[in-house]
Amino acid sequence: MHKQQQTSAINSLRIRRPDDWHVHLRDDDMLQMVAHYTAHQFGRAIIMPNLAPPITTAAAAIEYRKRIMSALPANSRFKPLMTCYLTDNIDPKEVENGFKEEVFTACKLYPANATTNSAHGVSDVRTIYPVIEAMQRIGMPLLIHGEVTDCDVDIFDREAVFIERTLSVLVDDFPELKIIFEHITTKDAVNFVTESGTLIAATITPHHLRINRSDMFKGGIKPHLYCLPIAKREAHRTALRKAAISGSPKFFLGTDSAPHVIAAKETSCGCAGIFNAPYAIESYALTFDEENALDKLEGFASIHGPNFYGLPLNEDYILIERGENKVPEHIISGDINIIPFHNSEDISWVYKCAT
Ligand code: NCD
Ligand code: ZN
Repeated sequence: MHKQQQTSAINSLRIRRPDDWHVHLRDDDMLQMVAHYTAHQFGRAIIMPNLAPPITTAAAAIEYRKRIMSALPANSRFKPLMTCYLTDNIDPKEVENGFKEEVFTACKLYPANATTNSAHGVSDVRTIYPVIEAMQRIGMPLLIHGEVTDCDVDIFDREAVFIERTLSVLVDDFPELKIIFEHITTKDAVNFVTESGTLIAATITPHHLRINRSDMFKGGIKPHLYCLPIAKREAHRTALRKAAISGSPKFFLGTDSAPHVIAAKETSCGCAGIFNAPYAIESYALTFDEENALDKLEGFASIHGPNFYGLPLNEDYILIERGENKVPEHIISGDINIIPFHNSEDISWVYKCAT
């Protein structure tokens, strides 16, 4: 991972409580284990629907939301924002009613087989044009995992090719649709979002701001740095950092925290996903500090997201202080053992609860 000189003299930062605009909380024991990390730092989070089976109905989302809240202390003020997983057969009425009834905040488009639990994803985006049409009409955001799944396309090119083949067509066909290009990893994506109209935004993860593709192989293969979209060349990481600290309302926080047990990562066919929730805001603070841009963290973490979604800003504040903060090597609960992002590093910033 790339450490840069810290230049800022700021030792403490009070910002509006942030939200996480992309997180995987999973289900069952894993949900019990991980939900509180996200709820501790963030006011709200966009909950990914890629369970097995995926969340495709409002009724399933209501049940899942209940399970999330039951995994948290009874007085938790955390608000999970539920999403609907788009399939080839999704019913536009289900999506529209779920949005109007304030069950669904957005829909998630996974190209079929692009990533973990995406086998039920969309085979060709034109198949779901009637749903997208309805979403555009009612102002419901579309969240996109932007990678082509064509095996002939090199894994490092899948995001750039997706922009060319799918996203640019979608934007032209639905000029009034709100789109969030999720967990962007390339300068191509930064440029596309920057040059598009105000209805196109992107989230950026903590890890894509810190690792490039060489880091996955430094001194041996590093399965815990493997995620999708895969980390790209250094020039892309630099472009992402520039976008995150730019102050542009088009770029905001989305951790893509995606926990997998150690046995599912360290195996001959390891899962994609990085678990960063326990130290998410500290990781972003470290990056913004290195860029001498701590003054831009609140916009990125707490303001641009709600403004884009048309939701109110959180009213409480958090404190982030400079100080030693050693990330454990493992995070263990019962039988579940996960290696978190930044494991065994001193992350140099400490998150403190509201003041
Ligand atoms: C995610 C997961 O594990 O659910 N994995 C990942 O690498 N980010 C799925 C996803 O968001 O692509
Ligand atoms: Zn994700």
